[in-house]
Amino acid sequence: MVTTAGEAFLRGFHAERPGVTGDAFGHGRSADGRTGYEALRDRVAGCRRVLDLGCGDGVLLRLLAVGDDGRRAETVAGVDLSPEALALARRRPELARAVLVEGRAQQLPFAAGAFDACVSHMALMLMDDVERVAAEAARVLAPGGLFACVLGGGAAGGEAYEAFLRLLRPVLAAVPEERRMPPLGDRRVRSRDGLDAVLGPAGFGPVEWETLRIDLGGSPEEVWRSVSGIYDVRTLDGPARAGLRAAFLAEAAALAPPGGGPVPCAFDVHLATAHLTTARLATAAGRG
Ligand SMILES: C[S@@+](CC[C@H](N)C(=O)[O-])C[C@H]1O[C@@H](n2cnc3c(N)ncnc32)[C@H](O)[C@@H]1O
Repeated sequence: MVTTAGEAFLRGFHAERPGVTGDAFGHGRSADGRTGYEALRDRVAGCRRVLDLGCGDGVLLRLLAVGDDGRRAETVAGVDLSPEALALARRRPELARAVLVEGRAQQLPFAAGAFDACVSHMALMLMDDVERVAAEAARVLAPGGLFACVLGGGAAGGEAYEAFLRLLRPVLAAVPEERRMPPLGDRRVRSRDGLDAVLGPAGFGPVEWETLRIDLGGSPEEVWRSVSGIYDVRTLDGPARAGLRAAFLAEAAALAPPGGGPVPCAFDVHLATAHLTTARLATAAGRG
């Protein structure tokens, strides 16, 4: 498997923390009460065969396999760089029949037209050579197939997430060059226009884009568990991480409302969808 410096970092990170994204986002809900995973599941409801790019430990695949209102996917498949995350996915009873493959989204081991939808939760923005990912998604989708993803949008509002990032900045600046995180993914996919520019040439129609504010509020310790799941934290040594945690817990406690209640913390995610347009399939095939 050809890998980049970014992919090697991701594999190392998820070897240590294979279920980190579900731990951070599995309980966070948007205004309508759904998690980002549930919002994505609902976007592809009715699709029979669904592939998850960067499926991690299978939180989304499980939801797709179980379904909602009887609308479950018949075939679910996932690809991920991390064998440790996939091992956790394989332990889920609901995924006993799922096809779970260690590999790169840039080189999918599936036949052309094998899926009705490709989904990706908090993973597309980490992927290098994202044009190749788009071309591969177009290749494995049936005509008219749906691409749907949730992308990280960043801290939302003057709350605990911003306090965490403010405390993190100087600690990261002190990390020696050789321990720093390599650049991950392609920033273009974090905006609607950028994602359009990536997906369009692969044969997809215009991107529909919605921003959801995910409430990650809770006790200071719970909020720490959510915010400290970000990749940069892996570059910190033990004392730096412990110092950051202590400083954050003190600030977070002060952010709690008088008389108690959850520490406010929110994170924006973008929910983006695009259909493969049959008219442009020839272009996509030419690039495949
Ligand atoms: C932030 S985690 C999200 C995991 C899961 N989708 C979730 O939300 O619970 C990103 C995942 O994408 C995977 N990943 C990143 N780049 C990838 C690539 N090029 N091909 C396959 N998986 C990739 C990582 O290994 C990691 O499991």
